[in-house]
Amino acid sequence: MYDEKVAEQAQKIHQETYGTEPTTVSYAPGRIEVLGNHTDYNEGTTFSTAINMGHCFCISKSDKPGVRITAGDIRETAEFDPETDERLEKKYQWANYVKGVMYYLSQQGIKADGIDCTFLGSIPMGAGLSSSAALEVATAFAVLAYTGTELDKKEIGILAQAAENNFAGCNCGLLDQFSSIYGVHHGLIHSDFRTLETYPVKLPDDVVFLMINPHIKHTLADSPYNARRMSCEKAAKELGEQLGRNVKALRDVSVEEFLAHKDKIDPEAAQRATHVIYEIDRVEKGVKLLAEGKVAEFGQYLFDSHETSRTAFENSIEALDIVVNAAKEAGALGARLSGGGWGGSVCALVHANKADEICQEIIEICKGKGIEPTAEKIIPSEGAQVIK
Ligand code: GLA
Repeated sequence: MYDEKVAEQAQKIHQETYGTEPTTVSYAPGRIEVLGNHTDYNEGTTFSTAINMGHCFCISKSDKPGVRITAGDIRETAEFDPETDERLEKKYQWANYVKGVMYYLSQQGIKADGIDCTFLGSIPMGAGLSSSAALEVATAFAVLAYTGTELDKKEIGILAQAAENNFAGCNCGLLDQFSSIYGVHHGLIHSDFRTLETYPVKLPDDVVFLMINPHIKHTLADSPYNARRMSCEKAAKELGEQLGRNVKALRDVSVEEFLAHKDKIDPEAAQRATHVIYEIDRVEKGVKLLAEGKVAEFGQYLFDSHETSRTAFENSIEALDIVVNAAKEAGALGARLSGGGWGGSVCALVHANKADEICQEIIEICKGKGIEPTAEKIIPSEGAQVIK
């Protein structure tokens, strides 16, 4: 299932801009991170879903060399040579995600020169739903289809991540790109970022996810994200020294080992690592809980996750805390900030038959606390695809 309205509109804008219909159209969804915060670049595990909102990417052949890319929402067109690794000027910052992907594809000999492109998406920007990863993945799927090339899905994810790291400046892990690629209709994706394997997990029928957006815009490239990543790497190195063995990443340290040695390493690194090590543990236990249909216990892990985000990783902000508390008060099974943090959305797990009521109540409670979020049900959806 893809967002048909967006696909139709994107093709219409392409036709209006370039005077010709696109011959290739791809679609890639955004994501919500359900559990496993900042675990991906620590080679840990996560639960996520692809969502029912995404980006469409259209391509048609052009007589001119180079790439023209139109952002459908603002109707601006940027032009670039996909084989150079220069970033585009600030005005066309949005096009760097596309350029990055095309650059890394061209490095692998997959060249789409002489094309006109358009993208359009339904993912609200800055909502923590990975609109940038969706754009990168949609770009890769479209170029591969247009050039008739096949690439392993893992490689597509890694390449899209490289575009985000080096062209957008956020040293992110692979969670967003993998979620967009491996999405499952009505299911969760359980990813292991050491083996790079993903497993579809059935979501019990009687629960749904809500996405609550307090509309505090953010970009991770301007946040302490990269600094947190460095703290985690420092903690892993120092814990390895304490344990007298090679600790490649925080994934290699159990909760028990961490508790025994945390006071002997850099205090700030230890504080950040607390969140990550407990998160990895929660995801592992969560797999079993979901398999047994124990949704209330699983939901509690979401609350626990938000708590260590707030106190140890310090990637929450007041508006997100208000939403999580409101969700708890309104009867959600669990709620937590979803994604990098310092803004973005809260993901809540609720009983399906109470979802509408809880949405309303969360909004009401938040209004009383000075914020006006929007809340909606999320339909876990299929991953990226070529639709034309
Ligand atoms: C962002 C990053 C991901 C991941 C999450 C936090 O979404 O892009 O790689 O690190 O934050 O879990």
